[in-house]
Amino acid sequence: MIIRQLQDTPADAWAVQQVARAAFRDLFDIPAGEPDDDRRTVRQLARTRHLVRSDPGGCWIAEQDGEALGVALAMRREGLWLLSLYAVLPRAQGKGVGRLLLDRATEYGRGCLRGMVCVSPSPAAARRYRRAGFTLHPAMALSGPVDRAGLLDPGDIPVHPGNATHFHLLDSVDRRLRGAAHGVDHEYLLAHFEELLIADTLAGSGYCYREGGAVKLLAATSKRIAVRLLREALARVPDGVEARVEFLTAEQEWAVDVGLELGLTVANRGYLALRGMRPPMPYLPSGAFL
Ligand SMILES: CC(C)(COP(=O)(O)OP(=O)(O)OC[C@H]1O[C@@H](n2cnc3c(N)ncnc32)[C@H](O)[C@@H]1OP(=O)(O)O)[C@@H](O)C(=O)NCCC(=O)NCCS
Repeated sequence: MIIRQLQDTPADAWAVQQVARAAFRDLFDIPAGEPDDDRRTVRQLARTRHLVRSDPGGCWIAEQDGEALGVALAMRREGLWLLSLYAVLPRAQGKGVGRLLLDRATEYGRGCLRGMVCVSPSPAAARRYRRAGFTLHPAMALSGPVDRAGLLDPGDIPVHPGNATHFHLLDSVDRRLRGAAHGVDHEYLLAHFEELLIADTLAGSGYCYREGGAVKLLAATSKRIAVRLLREALARVPDGVEARVEFLTAEQEWAVDVGLELGLTVANRGYLALRGMRPPMPYLPSGAFL
């Protein structure tokens, strides 16, 4: 087996996609015949190309006889190390491939004082991250149809759609909350997610991305603004689509309360793994861009 850096090619992006697809289908018991979500596939291929360009030293693939067995995509943003994707083919799991890949990915984070990973419910993943020195914060997920009767809002904080002219504002909010901006990732997020919502008032600022029913990333300088943004994002989930908000640690009770008010179901799901930092608050991470 060899472990090599990923290259910015369609073939490498496709290999990453195939490994991740097999690993997560196995983890979540998704039947083989269930079709792929084309939009998500396009997003995932583009994510790999984006990260290989921004962080070539953080993107690794394990191969045997030319076949991809496992992948790890890590990034560095202003002293914060983040793991975007980590997966090994089901038949190759439990043999140390994941450990070798995580070693390469964490080596790339050497010199970063802080680290963040959104962890799947896989016991093997939890073991790997804890052994790599991360603190595992148990997380919740909210899901279900939005009860629109609960959406009556005083509307005293204006929320409007965002665009690339807001990137400096988003970076400022992130630096305050987690000590590091998302930087170039906002170009990807704006291009691939359905909408960006902004609240920018004298009392504080915040933003949030929504893709279909999923609230993907939310950061705000106060709980009040975060609540307003989450309610607005959930109000904009299309009729008939289930809402989903993931990786909520106990610090994000403000979001759990919004979800419960709007009829969503709360359940345990995975962890937020952190090193050298406490969970940012109020903050809902994106699984892939954190
Ligand atoms: C997480 C993952 C990438 C790890 O890759 P891997 O090649 O299986 O990892 P390794 O073999 O190096 O290590 C797995 C460890 O978990 C342990 N393990 C495996 N299954 C386990 C289980 N059900 N309960 C407890 N420990 C388990 C193994 O014994 C091993 O520990 P050790 O090396 O200290 O003995 C892989 O399992 C995977 O792709 N899972 C599905 C996708 C996923 O959840 N990705 C992580 C997203 S955050």
